[in-house]
Amino acid sequence: MNYQRVGIIGAGVIGQAIFDAIVTQDLAAVDYVLVDERFAPPANTTHLREHLTTDVRRALAAPTDLVIEAAHPDVVAGLGAELLAKGDLCAFSSSALADESVETAIRQAAKVAGSRLLIPHGAILALDGLSDGRDAIDQVIVTTTKNGASLGADTNARGVLFEGATRDACARFPRNVNVHAAVAIAGIGFDRTRSVVVADPETRQMRHRVQVFGQGFEWDISVSSTTLGGVSGAYTPKSAVGSIQRIFGFHPIAAC
Ligand SMILES: NC(=O)c1ccc[n+]([C@@H]2O[C@H](COP(=O)([O-])OP(=O)(O)OC[C@H]3O[C@@H](n4cnc5c(N)ncnc54)[C@H](O)[C@@H]3O)[C@@H](O)[C@H]2O)c1
Repeated sequence: MNYQRVGIIGAGVIGQAIFDAIVTQDLAAVDYVLVDERFAPPANTTHLREHLTTDVRRALAAPTDLVIEAAHPDVVAGLGAELLAKGDLCAFSSSALADESVETAIRQAAKVAGSRLLIPHGAILALDGLSDGRDAIDQVIVTTTKNGASLGADTNARGVLFEGATRDACARFPRNVNVHAAVAIAGIGFDRTRSVVVADPETRQMRHRVQVFGQGFEWDISVSSTTLGGVSGAYTPKSAVGSIQRIFGFHPIAAC
């Protein structure tokens, strides 16, 4: 797509990687980088600082044709429909859509405006395969294993913390199971996709296993990434930049 002006929401691990890629590769003009009051800009980010704002109304008034959200599911829930009324939205915090009223408002806003909600693959792979095969897929199980701190739980937590529908996993771990949400949206939905969340106090890896059982096919993908200390692992900023480049049609030869 030929986006000219973008807004970015969130300037953490993902937001900063995307900002840097858009600016250094001259993909589009960045109208703003919206953060919350608690955000403290790191050293050596002078260029980023020039774009920072905490003013939501200023951000919503900007003439962007694409907004990239890398902040929090509450942002997608609170601003998603309003943003989609103006242009496209790429949302990393897709667990917000597990709330049916949010999903309905977002789908309706996109339909009325003719805009698109883009779900990046983030920390997992094969959303394309899920989407392509969804009519013939019977079962999807996503199992995430992280240490308790990375799950917002006790650092000593061990074992299965949750097992059930992805819709309920998103309500319980909104910042930690965006992978599950993305898999559900691409595939067979929040109620039919099964989520398992496991705490392992000894691991520094964030591991996601996606098992898919279809009519005449199945796959079992496991992706592991070293924690960067917060909710993202080492692979996610790379994946995020790749998604943005594909959204912009940056690659002369592209996987599809
Ligand atoms: N889809 C995936 O596979 C995947 C993978 C990793 C992270 N995520 C999600 O992407 C988001 C960003 O991840 P990250 O690792 O960059 O997080 P981070 O904690 O490093 O950064 C979050 C940023 O969002 C900002 N923020 C938080 N609440 C805000 C609000 N209400 N309004 C404006 N800005 C706000 C913070 O100031 C910060 O700059 C999180 O929601 C995370 O759960 C998704």
